[in-house]
Parts: sequence; structure tokens; C-alpha cells
Amino acid sequence: MQREKFGSRLGFILISAGCAIGLGNVWRFPYITGKYGGAAFVLIYLVFLVLLGLPIMVMEFAVGRASQASVAMSFDRLEPLGTKWHWYKWFGMAGNYLLMMFYTTIGGWILLYVFKMAGGEFEGKNADEIAGVFGNLMEKPGLMTICMIVVVAACFGIVCMGLQKGVEKITKKMMLLLLALMVILAIRSATLPGAGEGIRFYLLPDFKKAAESGMKEVIFAAMGQSFFTLSLGIGAIAIFGSYIDKKRRLTGEAVCVTILDTCVALIAGMIIFPACFAFGVQPDSGPSLVFITLPNIFNSMSGGRIWGTLFFLCMLFAAASTIIAVFENIIAFAMDLTNCSRAKAVVVNLIAIVILSLPCVLGFNVLSGFQPLGAGSNVLDLEDFIVSNNLLPLGSLVYLLFCTSRYGWGWKKFCEEANAGEGIKFPKWTRIYVSYILPLIVLFIFVQGYWSKFVG
Ligand code: PHE
Ligand code: NA
Repeated sequence: MQREKFGSRLGFILISAGCAIGLGNVWRFPYITGKYGGAAFVLIYLVFLVLLGLPIMVMEFAVGRASQASVAMSFDRLEPLGTKWHWYKWFGMAGNYLLMMFYTTIGGWILLYVFKMAGGEFEGKNADEIAGVFGNLMEKPGLMTICMIVVVAACFGIVCMGLQKGVEKITKKMMLLLLALMVILAIRSATLPGAGEGIRFYLLPDFKKAAESGMKEVIFAAMGQSFFTLSLGIGAIAIFGSYIDKKRRLTGEAVCVTILDTCVALIAGMIIFPACFAFGVQPDSGPSLVFITLPNIFNSMSGGRIWGTLFFLCMLFAAASTIIAVFENIIAFAMDLTNCSRAKAVVVNLIAIVILSLPCVLGFNVLSGFQPLGAGSNVLDLEDFIVSNNLLPLGSLVYLLFCTSRYGWGWKKFCEEANAGEGIKFPKWTRIYVSYILPLIVLFIFVQGYWSKFVG
């Protein structure tokens, strides 16, 4: 079966970017950066994007394009006879489900904020009162559940109707609008009185401070964030490889997606941190950070209500384009495995994901006694930790070894696939690095991260 190809190169890059750019950029990047001390973290994160993220993205694309399949079948098609790489598909799918178990909750918060902004609920409120509004929200499991279900149902609805084509067009426009709005907000934020301290926090690395707060954990977190933001390790971005024309080399495409994704994240930080310090919000507030910071900025702008509504609407689209990509993967997986109809796969998974997403929603209220990662932690923290710090790095390791080991697909075939067509070549001289050093770095960061987090 011939898979449809993207009409244009730009189309492909923007759609892959739609999967990559999401809550990881506008929600997770600022809060993790705030939690792990600011600029020093950002610097390590950027280095990891290039050293770890980029080569692995090329590998995922290559596996997707060579197999012309999603993670459900890609390893089956490429693995050498008698090997068991295809077992990875269960791991990858578990990753996709687990990611959705908390991603949809945050999507629900954003949906609610669109309405809160439009309704002017934050107008005239100071930073403490705004934080109070968010705190109240956490106490309302019913409302949060409804918002989560609306997000899940809407995204599955789109996947079911196969409306992707239309959505792609809207998403592209919304992404550009989001970017434009973000630039405006960053300028507003950076010119707030008292913004200087935030800019220094965000842009001037202080490694001494980072070392005090535990360099090992900072590094572990930076690796997690760089994999998370690029959607690596669970076959989520691999499927897009299957849509790339053979005429394009894969490295250049990966570079473009990475650059776009990084720009969005960096601008998000440029919005949040100056405002944080200007309004006295703690940068290490955790997952609530953007929700308690942004309304302050809109309050300081004329027409803030409109800006705010538009901004959260764009954020909602960025989140939805990621959710739709992951749902599409989940549905393809179910259909490939059980030969069921699309509608059936959608209904079963809709119910499954709603139920699976409940613990995260309830973790803030009903289940608030369950603090799996220490005092004050919740289900969201646990699920996020499992995905970002465990499944993504370990899954990336599988792609790495598959593409470089002679017991897997192997270096030669990988290079042939990555370098078919024109564009930037995957540099062959990196062989020793990607085959041996890179897996060891990932493994090392993983082990030392665990050690410092749980042992001492
Ligand atoms: N990259 C997405 C984001 O930044 C999250 C994601 C991670 C999606 C892993 C798929 C797989 O929001
Ligand atoms: Na991202």
C-alpha cells in the first residue's frame, strides 16, 4: 500500500512540528526551567537537544520511512530474522497512553482558561488572587473531569472523522498566530517594571547555584525535557517519517523541526520569567507556573481580556495538534493489531483514555493523600516522571541501538535511509559517537539521575 505523502516540504515540517510543539513548550519547559534553577538548566537543555535529541529524531524518522509503518509494525518489518526488537511496540504504546494520561488534564486546564479569560475572571485581581483562582480549580474534580473529557472527545472526534486535512490547515494558521502572540507577549513581559531580575534568572547561567541544588538532577531533568519536547522515544514522531518523500534527506528535516520547537520554548520562557519576578510569582511553583503567571501579564495590557483569550485558544490548538498526533498513533496501533474498524478503535480508546486520565485529575483533590514522589507531589508528577525521565530516554535507547547495532537494523541500512535524497547528510564520521558514546551518555545520565533522586 502506498502511503500518502505530504504535498510540500513545508507541510511536512509544520505537521511534524505540530506534534512536537505542544504543552512541552508552553507549559512544561517554563515550569521545569523554573524548578531547576533557570539559565544553567536552559544551557544544558540546548546542548542536549543537539547532542542527544537530533540524532535520535533522525533515527525515528528513518525507521518510520524505511518501514512505511507506525510503531505497531515498523520493527517487525525492519528487524533481522529471528530477533525480537518488535517487542518494543508494547513499550512505545505504553508510553503513548501514559503520556495522554496527564497531557489531557493539562489540555483541560487550558480549555477552562479560554473561558475564564473570555469571561474576565482575572480582571482586577492581583498575583495572589490569581493563584487562588487556580488553587480553587484544583479543588473541583467534577469540572476538571468534564474539561478533560471534552478535550479527549473532541480530539478523538477529529481523528475518527479523518478531518486531519482540515485541521492541518487550521493548526498551521494557529501555530503562526501563537508564535506572533508569543513574541508580542515576550516584549510586554520583558518591559514590565522589575523584569530585569527574571531576565537574569532565565539567561545568565549560575552553575554554582545549579550545583548547590543538585547538578545531577538538573542534568537528568534536562535530558527528560529535551526528549519530551521533541516527542522522542515512544514512536510518536517516527510515524511522520513514513510520510516523508524519499527525495529528502532526513537530517535537514529533523534540524528544522528542532529549531522551530526550540524557538517556541525559548520564547515561552521569555514570557514567563520576567513576569514571574515582576509580579512576585515563585519560579519554582511547578505545573501551575504558567497558569498563575500569564493572567498577570494580560491584566497589565490594554485589551488584556482579548489577548488572553486568543493566547489560550492558540495554546489549546498547539496541545490539540499533539494530542491528535498521539491519538492517531494509538488508533493505527489498535487497527494494525486487531484488524478492527476505525470507529471501533476510536470508541474503545476514547473510553480507555478517559478512564486512564482520571487518576491525574483526581490526584489534586480526591487522591491528594497519595504523594508518590515525596511531600507535595501528586499523580501528575508521577506520570510525568515515568514518561519523561524513564520511557522516553529508555525508548530512545532502543532506537539508538536498533539503528547502530549489527544485531538490529544496523548502521549501514540506517545511513542509507537517512541519506537517501538531497539535503543535509547524516555525518558518517559520527559513527563511533552515535553507536557507543551516545547510548552510554543516555544510560549514564539515567542511572546517576535515579541515584541522586532516590539514594542520595
Ligand atoms: N513533544 C510534545 C510537546 O512538547 C509532547 C510529546 C512527547 C508528544 C512525547 C509525543 C511524544 O508537547
Ligand atoms: Na515540544
